[in-house]
Amino acid sequence: MSVMYLEFYGLKEQPFNVTPDPEFFFCTSGHEEAFYSLLYGIRTRKGFMQLTGPVGTGKTTLYRTLLDRLGTEIRSALIINPKLSDIQLIHSIIEDFEIKVGKRDRKSCFDALNSFLMSLAKAGSTALLIIDEAHNLKPSTLEQIRLLSNFETNKAKLLQILLVGQPELTDLLAKPSLAQIRQRITMSITLSPLDRNETERYIHHRIKTAGGQGMLIFDSPTIDEIYRFSQGIPRLINILCDKALFLSYMQRNRQELKTLMEHGHPAFGSS
Ligand SMILES: Nc1ncnc2c1ncn2[C@@H]1O[C@H](COP(=O)(O)OP(=O)(O)OP(=O)(O)O)[C@@H](O)[C@H]1O
Ligand SMILES: [Mg+2]
Repeated sequence: MSVMYLEFYGLKEQPFNVTPDPEFFFCTSGHEEAFYSLLYGIRTRKGFMQLTGPVGTGKTTLYRTLLDRLGTEIRSALIINPKLSDIQLIHSIIEDFEIKVGKRDRKSCFDALNSFLMSLAKAGSTALLIIDEAHNLKPSTLEQIRLLSNFETNKAKLLQILLVGQPELTDLLAKPSLAQIRQRITMSITLSPLDRNETERYIHHRIKTAGGQGMLIFDSPTIDEIYRFSQGIPRLINILCDKALFLSYMQRNRQELKTLMEHGHPAFGSS
């Protein structure tokens, strides 16, 4: 079915998948500012950074695009399950950086991480730790992350840390007990939903990236409706657009089937 749908619209791939695929990255002015701020923050080793935004606004897509762009310039570790305990978090980081440790107690892990970061810095490379869904972190795990930000030389932070999460992350960090970590955050970036104009350009961009021409079925009144229902949230725009393409295609199919039945066709055994 999906192959016929693609063929029907002249597409090479699904334009409105809900996976955070960097290939489809669309730069609104907000996404662009966020992208270059983070790139700058990582390259100049700012230490602690924070990226927040409402559900589905493109946080994961943004940092995946960033990782693609940075390529071999950095070594990164990505934690996407922040409900880990503090020691489990350290183990996950060690594993993601592919650091070999003999013993797995906290001290051995910290020592191994420290020498890994030092040798990376000597080689002129940067280490980046990304923690997604960070609004779900326990305060004790956040405290552990603060300790990780202490890896530094006189000149620079050895580990760049990017906390990514929903707006509740800001509320979490506002707790008086977390003042120490809050003060270390040198860059805080917020993503917003798209406006009506950006929604239209976003839809066009995704169709083009998927190999399609023009706006397909998306005329101006349809985009108005999509914008109204999605409030400019990219994930919701994708779901609505995919549904619209599918329904439009099915309508045509139903019509074709009806015509075939009415006028007969060899495939149906009558003439
Ligand atoms: N700038 C963008 N360019 C292209 N696609 C985007 C962009 N922002 C979001 N999307 C699309 O919207 C969907 C949701 O994006 P993403 O998963 O990055 O959001 P999120 O903010 O991480 O959501 P959550 O809060 O649920 O983790 C994905 O399908 C993604 O492809
Ligand atoms: Mg996400």
